[in-house]
Amino acid sequence: SDNVHSPHQNWSHNGLISSLDHASIRRGYEVYKQVCAACHSMQYIAYRNLVGVSHTEAEAKAEAEEAQIKDGPNDLGEYFMRPGKLSDYFPSPYPNEEAARAANNGAYPPDLSWIVSARKGGEDYIFALLTGYVDPPAGINLREGQYYNPYFPGGAIGMAQALYNEAMEYSDGTPATASQLAKDVSVFLKWASEPEHDVRKRMLIKAAGIFTILAALTYYIKRHKWSALK
Ligand code: HEM
Repeated sequence: SDNVHSPHQNWSHNGLISSLDHASIRRGYEVYKQVCAACHSMQYIAYRNLVGVSHTEAEAKAEAEEAQIKDGPNDLGEYFMRPGKLSDYFPSPYPNEEAARAANNGAYPPDLSWIVSARKGGEDYIFALLTGYVDPPAGINLREGQYYNPYFPGGAIGMAQALYNEAMEYSDGTPATASQLAKDVSVFLKWASEPEHDVRKRMLIKAAGIFTILAALTYYIKRHKWSALK
């Protein structure tokens, strides 16, 4: 493809045994909720998934209750809105793809649940895309509602720059620069795509520990058993 390669960032979760930064996941959830959720669904992520990751159970419950969830049909065959529960999935901004395209000049904002796994470059791509908007080079003609981003395949993207310095405030007081917002939402989306990331790395630590013990034991037994033959 003709898009620019996303620069590799020095993510704190890069190490072989490094976990995701959970404070960053929490801030990234705030960015998703306050900015991205206006156009992008995350229909495979439920409020209960936040528990023990970025929120306590009570906090996740409060987040769910803030959301209005479509439910039904009831006994009268009617659909209705109600406050969310832990078991609910994040609500979608549009009822269907046609409505989503109609609101975005024909472009479709993809569901972000697994976007980090679905796109080449993963979280590096998300960060580069969100911070990479520039004026179109001479000779590039953009259609109505299109913007220029060299990281997007083809360059012409139907999403305007969404993140600016101080576009919102973090509940933990972290200065909300555009790059901080982009970093945190990238880590949040990385977690959403790969919720088993930390478990996998913990397993590696355990496995390494068990194999070390087994190796030491094997060595000891071998020395003991064969000692008479020396
Ligand atoms: C596309 C992320 C906010 C509308 C995308 C893509 C990503 C993304 C990863 C896919 C690019 C690709 O296909 O490779 C985000 C994030 C946001 C955000 C993380 C918040 C920080 C918004 C907002 C809107 C929007 C607020 C609407 C006002 C769109 C549209 C597309 C898109 C229409 C499709 C563009 C195209 O195919 O030309 N976004 N987005 N996004 N986004 Fe966003």
